[in-house]
Amino acid sequence: MAAQELHEIARAIVAGHKGILAADESSGTIKKRFDAIGVESTEESRRFYRGLLFTTSGMEESIGGVILYDETIRQSADDGTPFAEVLASKGVVPGIKVDTGAQDLAGFPGEKVTEGLDGLRARLGEYRELGARFAKWRAVITIGDSIPTVACIRANAHALARYAALCQEAGLVPIVEPEVLMDADNTIERCYDVTARTLKWTFHELVVQGVDLRGTLLKPNMVISGKGCPEQAPAERIAELTIDCFLRHVPAAVPGIVFLSGGQSEVEATENLNAINRVGGPWPLSFSYGRALQASALKAWAGDKANAEAAQTVFAHRARMNSLAVGGEWSAELEQPVAA
Ligand code: 13P
Repeated sequence: MAAQELHEIARAIVAGHKGILAADESSGTIKKRFDAIGVESTEESRRFYRGLLFTTSGMEESIGGVILYDETIRQSADDGTPFAEVLASKGVVPGIKVDTGAQDLAGFPGEKVTEGLDGLRARLGEYRELGARFAKWRAVITIGDSIPTVACIRANAHALARYAALCQEAGLVPIVEPEVLMDADNTIERCYDVTARTLKWTFHELVVQGVDLRGTLLKPNMVISGKGCPEQAPAERIAELTIDCFLRHVPAAVPGIVFLSGGQSEVEATENLNAINRVGGPWPLSFSYGRALQASALKAWAGDKANAEAAQTVFAHRARMNSLAVGGEWSAELEQPVAA
């Protein structure tokens, strides 16, 4: 595929203040989410729930791409239309999670490396046939006593770059996701340092492997205090340090940065994205949220078909709030109508 087409897909996903819905929870993760609302995770309950999100009217005004899971890209809406087609017909680009998960990194206790490169070329070909136009691979970097090691950061950066090169060969835009976890008790300054090192090695490997940065999207964590840190930095500080870190380590050729929510609450993730956009940078700064787009919608649905419309209203609201945040135009008062 011409490089130009990849550039266009990447730009289209984040055009017009749009972002990404990460609906690519693995079977294990979606079971956890369903357990929390007392819903049994079956192929049909997963299909129904994902269908509810994808057929939400007007979501295409805020959502430019949806990341699907292997099972989901093979499923269809109630009327038999494959989900990838449902999305594409609304102008929403279908994507696919292609890594097979983070495993223990041999020799480095407490650290992970993401697997899934073996056989990836063939799988990418099939996913493209099924309608995917972009892909996602998530690397996990853990902060702790003397970790992350450079061995962990480099192993993950290398795998991300190999994955990205294979995606571009197959005509898919790679979303490169090096996630520094926010679950520890570290300060925001420590998050800055680890995120900086992670981005530095990730872009080094992408360039070494010949990846065309204009046909990629970056999905990073925000520079943020660890959840267990007694001192939680406010949104303005998160924005200032995130932009500073990215200006130093992310080339301007990258056509979009789509943050993950990583365990922030829905409103926090929106407020922080808004603050980040008020500072701004050379790239569109958008979202690729899983939990922060779905938490309230899941609760509103609660496994009951009768609640489907209410859940769609909640989801559409969350998506719109985040799109406003991409424009730096969100404010807390806008949350009132649905929260009430
Ligand atoms: P969260 O926004 O819930 O972190 O999920 C995004 C994602 O796709 C993580 O890989």
